[in-house]
Amino acid sequence: MKTNLKIVRYLIPSVFLLAFIHCQDITQPIQFNHQHHIEEVGYTCTDCHENVKSSSRASIPNISICEECHTDMESDSDEANKVGEYVNSGTVIKWIQVHRVPDHAYFSHRRHAAIAEIECTVCHGQVEAMTKPFQRPFTELTMSWCVDCHKDSQIQIDCYSCHR
Ligand code: HEC
Ligand code: HEC
Ligand code: HEC
Ligand code: HEC
Ligand code: HEC
Repeated sequence: MKTNLKIVRYLIPSVFLLAFIHCQDITQPIQFNHQHHIEEVGYTCTDCHENVKSSSRASIPNISICEECHTDMESDSDEANKVGEYVNSGTVIKWIQVHRVPDHAYFSHRRHAAIAEIECTVCHGQVEAMTKPFQRPFTELTMSWCVDCHKDSQIQIDCYSCHR
């Protein structure tokens, strides 16, 4: 009885803590605007997410890409000026990765975006229309989400193909 109570005392706050963390929206260090850079500046996804067609990780761009335009940029936008401060001082922007699978599961962008030619929108939504960063993933990246599409596309669902 005594041990059971201990477990309960430990468990209840943990459940609340997990629920709390889960509901928290992510706030990025800079309010990046996809729509502006795609529609006004004319960049494409691969100009910034340089590895998306060639390796497993898409890569989130940092100051080495921003500096092409944001060095000495004078802007009325506080957020654009913030980028200038990072670039001019050589400080890395600490983006928080929003879409993430656990380490025991293997996902490859090259496989999906290049070989299978699946559009980014299928898994990430209308990113080109976003004026604010992602606060949460476009869709929950659960195992059933992966497996359902594999079944529909008649791709193997062997455990070892994803859990290597
Ligand atoms: C090819 C040029 C180019 C590149 C590369 C670029 N930007 Fe921009 N960015 C612009 C222009 C032009 C503006 C508009 C500035 C203005 O309106 O004064 C802008 C504006 C912004 C703004 C303000 C948006 C708003 O709605 O107020 C942010 C934030 C921003 N950029 C972040 C970034 C980050 C972070 C990177 C690197 C990952 C980056 N930019 C790379 C050209 C670029
Ligand atoms: C079949 C679904 C799928 C498609 C298509 C897809 N993604 Fe992803 N994306 C994911 C998953 C799953 C993750 C989490 C991967 C991880 O944790 O390694 C992710 C993560 C990311 C990340 C952050 C982590 C990283 O890899 O750098 C970026 C940026 C990204 N995707 C961009 C893109 C772009 C750009 C495209 C289109 C060219 C694209 N994705 C197409 C499913 C997809
Ligand atoms: C000018 C550079 C730039 C361009 C062009 C760009 N992105 Fe991004 N992308 C970023 C930056 C910076 C972030 C991190 C901040 C954020 O989430 O908005 C990001 C984040 C993302 C993420 C979330 C990564 C994560 O943490 O899970 C996805 C998905 C993504 N971009 C997809 C796209 C797609 C699809 C396109 C083309 C339609 C595109 N991006 C074009 C700079 C860019
Ligand atoms: C929208 C559909 C779709 C979603 C969602 C999806 N996949 Fe896939 N996946 C495919 C297709 C299509 C292929 C076949 C690509 C090719 O031709 O090689 C594939 C191939 C793979 C392969 C290579 C299989 C092999 O034969 O070795 C792995 C691993 C994989 N996916 C993992 C994942 C994981 C992990 C997720 C979820 C995080 C996921 N996929 C989500 C469509 C999808
Ligand atoms: C197409 C990819 C894919 C295939 C095939 C796949 N898994 Fe997974 N699995 C995932 C992803 C992604 C996650 C992490 C997301 C989650 O926890 O929902 C995961 C999570 C898990 C977990 C951890 C669940 C948890 O609650 O933490 C187990 C256990 C697991 N898989 C077992 C299996 C077994 C057994 C098979 C074969 C019958 C299998 N998986 C086939 C993608 C896959």
